[in-house]
Amino acid sequence: MKIGILTSGGDCAGLNAAIGAVTVNAALKGYQVLGLRGGTRGLMGTEPNFEVLQPAHFTSDVMRSPSTFLGTTNRGNPFAYPMDDGTVVDRSDEIIGNIKKLGIETLIGIGGDGSLDILNQLTRKGGINLMWMPKTIDNDVCETEVAIGFYSAVATAFRFLNDLHATAQTHDMIMVTEIMGRDAGHLALHSGVAAHVDIILIPEIEYAFENLVKKYEQVRASGRSYMQVLVSEAVKTPDGEAVTVAHNTGSVRYGGIGQHLKRKLQEALKVEVRVQSPGHTLRGCSPTAGDIILAQQFGVKVIDLISQKKFGRMAAMQYGSIVDVPVEKVAGRSRPVTASDAMVHTARGLNISLGDQ
Ligand code: F6P
Repeated sequence: MKIGILTSGGDCAGLNAAIGAVTVNAALKGYQVLGLRGGTRGLMGTEPNFEVLQPAHFTSDVMRSPSTFLGTTNRGNPFAYPMDDGTVVDRSDEIIGNIKKLGIETLIGIGGDGSLDILNQLTRKGGINLMWMPKTIDNDVCETEVAIGFYSAVATAFRFLNDLHATAQTHDMIMVTEIMGRDAGHLALHSGVAAHVDIILIPEIEYAFENLVKKYEQVRASGRSYMQVLVSEAVKTPDGEAVTVAHNTGSVRYGGIGQHLKRKLQEALKVEVRVQSPGHTLRGCSPTAGDIILAQQFGVKVIDLISQKKFGRMAAMQYGSIVDVPVEKVAGRSRPVTASDAMVHTARGLNISLGDQ
């Protein structure tokens, strides 16, 4: 059996361990794995961009290396692909044609919710089996408690916040850190609790600016003159406006809420406020041992499922066990932080303000 594997969406830590686990375990079962380069973009045009993956390639240094050696893309839905001449074209048939040309019967995708939605439509249209391994620093894939890359991003954000602490303390500053996560606050919540910051703002919980001022007053009353605020990129301004940045590629992304809050806090509190962001270090960091283990567990699980002819499944972590769920149950949905989330409870229990009280 020929299996294709691709990484899709933004990169993160642990992807090479996931590809390696699939390749090594597939070889043990007599399957060949083709690595598809550049995500769906590498399957457009007349010549698919691929390589035959060899288990011997996956030495421990490759397994623990960051990002994805296959490359990936988080731009351009193939069903409505923006061409250089400004037209929008459906390129799904080109991709399906190339997968078939390579003799691939089963495609393993490693990606987030957006990529799964696209690959699910593509493989259904082409009659190709799909298997999925969830990855995203946003941790917003449904039906799994954790996705590949999340805890490496949490560890990186945690170090970043810790490294700001001493300077904030020495110079009596308010440090505002803006962090990725798209529309989900999991990354901010986990790393903010780990670093024990004073305020965590996430898009799922509406905040009032007065509560940030109130928290600073409490901090001062406790004998401290510095404060750490962590804000997730999709948090709106106190007036309810989303803050975005337009890139030269035409894409519009979240970015800038940290600067906005800095101006407001400086004005209200008359103290020095600085803004920082770990940015793409959250994605390009080296994987933690936990992420390498998770990626390897998911990799072995999808090959097990293929050998049992259980197609259309996603490897997932539920109640600490590796399980599988139907991709149909996951595609087109996402998993925001809910009010009953254990981390919300923990943050409140640690007297960390979420801006709503
Ligand atoms: O989904 C991962 C992610 O890093 C989000 O947290 C963030 O909003 C987005 O991708 C940034 O994408 P890009 O690097 O393409 O701007």
